[in-house]
Amino acid sequence: MLVLGIESSCDETAASVVEDGVRVRSNVIASQHDLHAEYGGVVPEIASRAHAERITPVVRRALDEAGVTLHDIDAVAVGNRPGLIGALVVGVSAAKALAWSLDVPLVGVDHVRAHLYAALLEDDGSRPSASDLFPALGLVISGGHTALFRSESPLCVTRIGSTIDDAVGEAYDKCAAILGLGHPGGPLVDRLAAHGNDRAHDFPVSRLSEDSLDFSFSGLKTSVLYTVRGRPQVTREDLSDVSARPAKGSGKPTGWQREASSLSDAERADVCASFQRACCRVLMLKIERAMEMEKAAGRGVRSLIIGGGVSANSRVRREALELGTRRGLKVALPPMAYCLDNAAMIAGLGHARLVAGEKDDLSLAASPMGAV
Ligand code: KG4
Ligand code: ZN
Repeated sequence: MLVLGIESSCDETAASVVEDGVRVRSNVIASQHDLHAEYGGVVPEIASRAHAERITPVVRRALDEAGVTLHDIDAVAVGNRPGLIGALVVGVSAAKALAWSLDVPLVGVDHVRAHLYAALLEDDGSRPSASDLFPALGLVISGGHTALFRSESPLCVTRIGSTIDDAVGEAYDKCAAILGLGHPGGPLVDRLAAHGNDRAHDFPVSRLSEDSLDFSFSGLKTSVLYTVRGRPQVTREDLSDVSARPAKGSGKPTGWQREASSLSDAERADVCASFQRACCRVLMLKIERAMEMEKAAGRGVRSLIIGGGVSANSRVRREALELGTRRGLKVALPPMAYCLDNAAMIAGLGHARLVAGEKDDLSLAASPMGAV
């Protein structure tokens, strides 16, 4: 069965043709990073317009690269939640139009669950056997999401923990912005970290309460900011003029001790390496805690499945594999091509829904909220 997948939840317009849910025949991704770079983050209206311009050529290219025509497609899958509503609407409208005109089934797919499915896609002809993986612990780490799941199958997923503030990818992007490295920052921080001393700074590792499976990255982000720029300063003028003082707790610092540009390359690399160590410490700690809690409840898991943009991170991949070896747990990581937002994971999970007898009709709506 050939499923055409469409993804437009944030700043990548993507289309993919996947055979039988696992064999990726094409994986086309038109990134909009250049359009958003000058704003330091994704601007929703710019994203929606770019999706509208690119969706047709991207779908065409995905068909061409797969060596098929629209008439070979058996179903259309689309990421319809969660995400930027104006961006999602473009993909959902295109998918509905194609499914209706080709008279094939339409399936809506949850973007976050699809990130976990990415680890099941075939890489160089091999893939993990799904029967070996489930029940699994799932960890989605991306720019918009950081959450732990218990998963009985690709379609049966229950959230057991999530971030109470920033997503880990967002923390990476902010760390890069503080250092003046550019956007998106995750890959840049990852690259610089390789040259730094990860013990140079003792950044906070947020554990939250003893039995919490939630995450928090805002303290880590603030700590990076203060390390790089120094403590926020009240200027001499502010001290003489009482009315100009920031009100206590107003959170409005009047200045910084230094500019990020005053750091040497080696100092920047040390911040990246130490930040990355703290992020990985939090992630591994929560994975181990979730494993213990599931085991104590008599619901052990057979594997750990990780997905989302941060699953491309070199240290996350290394530490997850080490954890798996230490704890006797299989670890499924997405092939590098399917870590970031892509439509192959959408087509794959769409196929799983179709095989389970599920599909949607033309009333399928885009939604900013996720299913889990
Ligand atoms: O999954 P994704 O493409 O989009 C969302 O669903 O959010 O994830 C994008 C996030 C960005 O925050 C980006 O900085 C981060 O993934 N990222 C990385 C790496 N590659 C991408 N973070 C750390 N290390 C990387 N190598
Ligand atoms: Zn994503």
